[in-house]
Amino acid sequence: MKRLVVLISGSGSNLQAIIDACQAGTVNGQVVGVISNKASAYGLTRAENAGVPTRVLSHKDFGDRESYDAALVAAVSDFSADLVVLAGFMRILTPVFVSAFEGKLLNIHPSLLPKYKGLDTHQRALDAGDSEHGVSVHFVTAELDGGPVIAQAKVAIEAADNADSLAEKVHRQEHVIYPMVCAWFVDGRLQMGEGKAWLDGQVLPPCGYV
Ligand code: GAR
Repeated sequence: MKRLVVLISGSGSNLQAIIDACQAGTVNGQVVGVISNKASAYGLTRAENAGVPTRVLSHKDFGDRESYDAALVAAVSDFSADLVVLAGFMRILTPVFVSAFEGKLLNIHPSLLPKYKGLDTHQRALDAGDSEHGVSVHFVTAELDGGPVIAQAKVAIEAADNADSLAEKVHRQEHVIYPMVCAWFVDGRLQMGEGKAWLDGQVLPPCGYV
């Protein structure tokens, strides 16, 4: 059974989807630890309700990003992670962390990458007048939101949408594709190599599996 460690900063609805998928057996793994940089993150309650050990590691207790990331490496390593899943973990990670887990470090980002890296993705898609928006799961590299994309899911932007309604639509898709990608990884079907994402021995296209 592969050991998943999930990093969060907030609500943890993606964490919940992954815990549920593990419990249902659609992901052949177990969430063995949840780490948050915020003590108030509701995802910590979700983890406790599921009997998953938690740890709070506040970035405010560290003088710079590198020392925080070194402590984070140690915390994740304590759980002996096979897969590290960033699920709404709102920290920019330095190479100190990324290089420790590269190839087994996933992130979910609420846009159709390479569009809208960074924050406020839903409002930016609305402001640009886009007709579609979505979510990407990607391997994490040192480039912010820039690692190879594994999978994307699209949602239509309708005239009545605002940032909240769009976030809700995107979240529904996130809860489908993140467990799906975790399942691929734990089943040994998904790797990162030559700066690309590979599924079943084939290079995925730049937009990943859609
Ligand atoms: C998700 O929408 C995820 O895509 C986003 O944070 C939200 C977390 O929701 N991640 C980022 O913006 C990363 N840059 P959750 O806490 O309910 O899983």
